[in-house]
Amino acid sequence: MNIDKKGGDRQEAVERFIQAFDGDRKAAIETLIDYVKTVPAVVRKPKAQRPTGSVLLSVKNLTKTYKLGKQHLTVVKDVSFDIYEGEIVAITGASGSGKSTLLHLMGGLDKPTSGDIFIDSTNLARLSDRKLSMFRRQTVGYVFQFFYLQPFLRLKQNLEVPGMFARAKRKDRSRHVTELAEKVGLQDRLQHFPKELSGGQMQRAAIARALLNQPRIILADEPTGNLDSKNGEQIIRLFESIRDELGTTVVIITHDEAIANRADRTIRLADGRLA
Ligand SMILES: Nc1ncnc2c1ncn2[C@@H]1O[C@H](COP(=O)(O)OP(=O)(O)O)[C@@H](O)[C@H]1O
Ligand SMILES: [Mg+2]
Repeated sequence: MNIDKKGGDRQEAVERFIQAFDGDRKAAIETLIDYVKTVPAVVRKPKAQRPTGSVLLSVKNLTKTYKLGKQHLTVVKDVSFDIYEGEIVAITGASGSGKSTLLHLMGGLDKPTSGDIFIDSTNLARLSDRKLSMFRRQTVGYVFQFFYLQPFLRLKQNLEVPGMFARAKRKDRSRHVTELAEKVGLQDRLQHFPKELSGGQMQRAAIARALLNQPRIILADEPTGNLDSKNGEQIIRLFESIRDELGTTVVIITHDEAIANRADRTIRLADGRLA
């Protein structure tokens, strides 16, 4: 059975399958197998369907200058863009181009020298430190290249400790942690210490931790930088399922072209400017 490799037309394949099925079942199944081989491994949603929602995060004329003694180093230069609710956006650019600085500004971990960062109608650049840290805790989840799990706590406690500060009830906390562990595929690793987990598992644990407060946006700084391509792929699939199931917006800094290609959109930085 020959199906045009590029053609891979589903309707046609199904029709051939049905036609063949009455006669020779083995041939019919071969038809289907041939068709499946023509389907790309990753079936993507058409890009035109995104962005799905309204603007969630808006960066306007953002500039960041570091002062080092008498020297002034401007590393983010008049950058403006919007991120839509439910998008997965990749940020790429050479090392030193200002990606991490930009991400820190977007999540309120650092303050800009000038310009604004709106999440909904809140301008992070104008919040007091106290309000900023409260807003951050409720709205943003962070994932880093190095996982920053507490080495002396089991995975369960690593996930429970942030909830203790939020004064969640013990029973609710425990159920929530179990649910999150299931979501990232670590339900059977809750009693493990971080060093007993693989790199990919540690990053999935860090992602579960980032989800504890049900953030609207996840900001991830090279989350696959320490993983092989198979584990990197798993992490991206996990972000996709989080976006699909929870509607979380995801921004990922990455060097990996394959990962950038999976995103709905790429923002490129070169020497602190949009490229
Ligand atoms: N806290 C800081 N103080 C001074 N310079 C910094 C600081 N953080 C980053 N830089 C400088 O800003 C530039 C951009 O850094 P960064 O945002 O980390 O880039 P990237 O993540 O793209 O590699 C680099 O030249 C870096 O040395
Ligand atoms: Mg960086």
